[in-house]
Amino acid sequence: MSTAISPTAYNYKVVRQFAIMTVVWGILGMGLGVFIASQLVWPQLNLDLPWTSFGRLRPLHTNLVIFAFGGCALFGTSYYVVQRTCQTRLISDSMAAFTFWGWQAVIVGALITLPMGYTTTKEYAELEWPLAILLAIVWVTYGLVFFGTIVKRKTKHIYVGNWFYGAFIVVTAMLHIVNHISLPVSLFKSYSAYSGATDAMIQWWYGHNAVGFFLTTGFLGMMYYFVPKQAERPIYSYRLSIVHFWALITLYIWAGPHHLHYTALPDWAQSLGMVMSIILLAPSWGGMINGMMTLSGAWHKLRTDPILRFLVVSLAFYGMSTFEGPMMAIKTVNSLSHYTDWTIGHVHAGALGWVAMISIGAVYHMIPKLYGREQMHSVGLINAHFWLATIGTVLYIASMWVNGITQGLMWRAINDDGTLTYSFVEALQASHPGYIVRALGGAFFATGMLLMAYNVFRTVRAANPAQAEEAAKIVVVGAH
Ligand code: HEM
Ligand code: HEM
Repeated sequence: MSTAISPTAYNYKVVRQFAIMTVVWGILGMGLGVFIASQLVWPQLNLDLPWTSFGRLRPLHTNLVIFAFGGCALFGTSYYVVQRTCQTRLISDSMAAFTFWGWQAVIVGALITLPMGYTTTKEYAELEWPLAILLAIVWVTYGLVFFGTIVKRKTKHIYVGNWFYGAFIVVTAMLHIVNHISLPVSLFKSYSAYSGATDAMIQWWYGHNAVGFFLTTGFLGMMYYFVPKQAERPIYSYRLSIVHFWALITLYIWAGPHHLHYTALPDWAQSLGMVMSIILLAPSWGGMINGMMTLSGAWHKLRTDPILRFLVVSLAFYGMSTFEGPMMAIKTVNSLSHYTDWTIGHVHAGALGWVAMISIGAVYHMIPKLYGREQMHSVGLINAHFWLATIGTVLYIASMWVNGITQGLMWRAINDDGTLTYSFVEALQASHPGYIVRALGGAFFATGMLLMAYNVFRTVRAANPAQAEEAAKIVVVGAH
């Protein structure tokens, strides 16, 4: 077997653009998270203006962190991974550039319309129809670029990371299009094509699979490339990764009804959602174990490599949140946790601990390679970032567990005569210390992102274009 250097190079330009915007949107989205967390401590911060009120800024936070920060991380890493594992350039530079600018346009649209109060009211699908259509066009183009690149690959088989990215792209398109079918009545107002319990079911089929495919499957694609790369070890079990893939995608799609326990949704659908959620623990942990065990023989690297630490700790949080999720899906547990801060804690165990940490690790891995440097400007700063992120996540989720269980128990406490023991305001007062700790944890996490921005800035400023060009050359292994 020989190795030939192909004259063509990978398209790193679009990867660089998405990697930088991951950091920018991360700071904005998480900064806004800290702001809304502070509003829950000091309501005066609503500033008595409609567009700065919690109700309008909360969906802006979720859109910025999920679609802007998480989305840019997924676009950037998937374009990087698909090119490197298929040993070929993206199928079209102009289509890839369109996905970058189109995606940024959707986000800027969200930044303007959500504070103005334009919303479909469907959680995680708030954008009104003109933006939703633009998003669909960008997404279909993304699919064409990704799968087109796979089709023209120089390698024989398709690396498992690409299977995960591929499923994430296909299912997200399906969810987005089906959940957004609606009747526009003006430029900024539309009504869902569905009504009543059907609307709720479609919305949570969408909502849960936005978690399952956008916030999980795509990031597992990331995990399957960046963990082995950073650990310099092959993936622990390729066979397990295939079982993991098929089990995960067949089970996730059924679990949505656990968001609608004790509602007008038929009881059998709720029970089905509960059972599927419990079974989902198995593939989730299979994937986590596959990632963790990849470090066999390389654990010592954790002592000196903070990027690997980000990746491994993200897997630990993934394991934790996918244990917690099935528990919360059990109807009796959900009767306590639903509507409380426990859900918020669960969300951020996944969002901060898993999604953000793995993205941060992947971006730190890519940046030096994209800009022709040996490593990031400062490893010490990555280490400081790691500790800020870890401590921040722990403060966030621990305070929300305490709040959630306190709220659940106070709401259900009943006196002998059948009256409620506590008023709602008393439960809110009991939650106040937890809100302060959560805002503090969030501030830790967001400060870490500022360190990252500085570190990235210094690395990019010292870029070595000649070396970057050299690194982007396609090395076809096995060519004759
Ligand atoms: C500095 C970091 C962050 C802070 C301080 C923060 C804070 C918050 C706050 C205060 C809420 C509203 C909670 C409520 O309504 O009671 C929220 C909701 C949410 N955040 Fe964050 N957040 C942060 C990062 C993230 C990240 C990185 C993601 C995703 C990748 C994320 C995803 C979400 C989601 C999905 C919700 C809605 C949860 C639900 O409706 O159950 N957050 N966040
Ligand atoms: C096996 C895996 C998982 C299961 C079975 C699961 C289950 C659940 C359950 C039962 C709820 C509460 C529903 C409610 O009472 O309203 C929930 C909420 C949520 N989970 Fe998970 N979860 C899992 C993994 C994850 C992961 C890894 C993430 C993030 C990356 C995540 C993000 C969320 C979000 C954003 C919500 C809040 C949705 C909302 O009400 O707005 N979940 N999950």
